[in-house]
Amino acid sequence: MPAQVSVFIATSLDGFIARPDGAIDWLNDANRRVPAGEDCGYQVFFDSVDTLVMGRHTFELVLSFDDWPYGDKPVVVLSSRPIAVPAALRASVTWSDEAPAALVARLSAAGAQRLYVDGGVTIQRFLAAGLIEDLTMTLIPVLLGEGRRLFGPLAGDVPLRLAGSRVFDFGFVQLNYRVLRGA
Ligand SMILES: NC(=O)c1ccc[n+]([C@@H]2O[C@H](COP(=O)([O-])OP(=O)(O)OC[C@H]3O[C@@H](n4cnc5c(N)ncnc54)[C@H](OP(=O)(O)O)[C@@H]3O)[C@@H](O)[C@H]2O)c1
Repeated sequence: MPAQVSVFIATSLDGFIARPDGAIDWLNDANRRVPAGEDCGYQVFFDSVDTLVMGRHTFELVLSFDDWPYGDKPVVVLSSRPIAVPAALRASVTWSDEAPAALVARLSAAGAQRLYVDGGVTIQRFLAAGLIEDLTMTLIPVLLGEGRRLFGPLAGDVPLRLAGSRVFDFGFVQLNYRVLRGA
């Protein structure tokens, strides 16, 4: 049984996940206005995944945080070249240059049931390969004008079904979509 491949990500209203240089200061600023104890469903989602798959850029950003946020959960970092993994993370972080389908097949065969795919380029590659099953997007009420896109070119349309939505009174809107296969 192939693992479910999921996305959980915040974007500006104009579809960017980071500024051109990768900065997410706008997201950190927005998160400061979120009431204490509200995580917009992140922990429930995080607890439902057994493996993270992220692009090198996202890994480098997360490495700059004060604390590693993923505990012991396995993380696969995608890059065309081997990456340097800090000694403290070597038990859980591995590097891969596999194509999305090969990676999902390998992780599924090893028992993974739900993957959390993160990073714009990486999500775009998994979408183009037809591997993403569901996307949860939290729209942040800001326009950035330029930056790193969540979505990019596709060979064909990707039809979606809206499976849920939440409006938060501090201004975030969360949309949950299922990708319709074979449509
Ligand atoms: N708003 C949010 O919720 C959110 C969430 C996550 C990240 N971010 C932001 O988004 C930025 C990162 O997104 P991004 O679009 O720049 O990039 P990304 O997807 O994190 O990383 C892209 C890199 O991943 C590698 N890669 C991806 N798929 C691969 C494959 N199948 N095989 C080999 N290598 C592969 C390549 O690395 P090489 O160039 O090394 O080959 C590619 O350049 C970060 O700066 C972070 O600030 C925001």
